[in-house]
Amino acid sequence: MPDPAPSTLPAPRLRTRFTDLLGIEHPIVQGGMMWVGRAELAAAVSEAGGLGIITALTQPTPAELAREIERTRKLTDKPFGVNLTILPTITPPPYDAYRRAIVDSGVTIVETAGSSPEPHMEFFAEHGVRVIHKCTSVRHAVKAERLGVAAVSIDGFECAGHPGEDDVPGLVLVPAAADALTIPFVASGGFADGRGLAAALALGADGINMGSRFLCSAEAPVAASVKRRIVEASELDTRLIFRELRNTARVARNEVSDEVVRLLAAGGAFDDVRSLVSGARGRRVFEEGDLDAGVWSVGLAQGLIRDVAPAGDLVRRIVAEAREVMLRLAERTSG
Ligand SMILES: Cc1cc2nc3c(=O)[nH]c(=O)nc-3n(C[C@H](O)[C@H](O)[C@H](O)COP(=O)(O)O)c2cc1C
Repeated sequence: MPDPAPSTLPAPRLRTRFTDLLGIEHPIVQGGMMWVGRAELAAAVSEAGGLGIITALTQPTPAELAREIERTRKLTDKPFGVNLTILPTITPPPYDAYRRAIVDSGVTIVETAGSSPEPHMEFFAEHGVRVIHKCTSVRHAVKAERLGVAAVSIDGFECAGHPGEDDVPGLVLVPAAADALTIPFVASGGFADGRGLAAALALGADGINMGSRFLCSAEAPVAASVKRRIVEASELDTRLIFRELRNTARVARNEVSDEVVRLLAAGGAFDDVRSLVSGARGRRVFEEGDLDAGVWSVGLAQGLIRDVAPAGDLVRRIVAEAREVMLRLAERTSG
């Protein structure tokens, strides 16, 4: 389907329980992205009526996160959120201090991911923060609802980053989540256009979350070669690494991810690939544009991405296209 012409005109609001919950216009979230979720991108998405999210751990210290939140505020007065990814690491970042920087900055929407939000719920509730918990299974979504999160973002097997170990794609995961949850939720993984948004709504979700599509937007602070590669690549050009370690990550297919898959399949341990998968090498891909410098996250949705567009245009055109799809579908199937 050809993309409708980019537009700066506000698209008519696409209202769902999710937009009502957060006071936004359109049910489109730009998920947290390490090294990518900075002020310019998040503000562009929020300014267009979606929910932009800045990524806490991209900032080296809580004080710098507070400054990034301030910078985002200067660019938009609409709601935006902060992603707090909680992954088991040898030297964990000072989560409490990041949490404190978020609430002291007056942010009231947090996307948690990586592990259970439980240790953080009381603190966020006390400070009036609404938590959107991102997870990859219905059981974790149900648990998060029980813990008091305001909404869930459910990531199917298609997604960039960590799809979990259950391998359930969105076509089953999203309606299964709709059956199990009572709180609003957005479908994530594999979404890149208005057809996807219409489909997510049809499956019972209250909106969509996207990473790869926004990684390939004008405001994403990554080298042009990365965006070009996403446009050229197909849905076949990703790799699942760390399967054997039960910590699966979906990343771009390149020399490094091929090598990591090979070493682990041959019985290697994490130590054998540690240097290949370091965050510093992945960061070089984004900053220097050397596509084989390290591993970098991207999802199957890259097969649907055919341009680099301003993030606000993406929000507007996805909403417009979803409306058109829903109308056309009703026409096509009526009497
Ligand atoms: C470059 C990149 C970095 C990401 N980093 C994070 C992260 O730090 N924390 C997180 O919760 N999700 C992260 N994600 C996952 C996204 O927030 C989102 O859940 C995922 O991209 C959805 O799948 P999609 O790419 O098919 O849209 C990242 C995704 C990408 C593409």
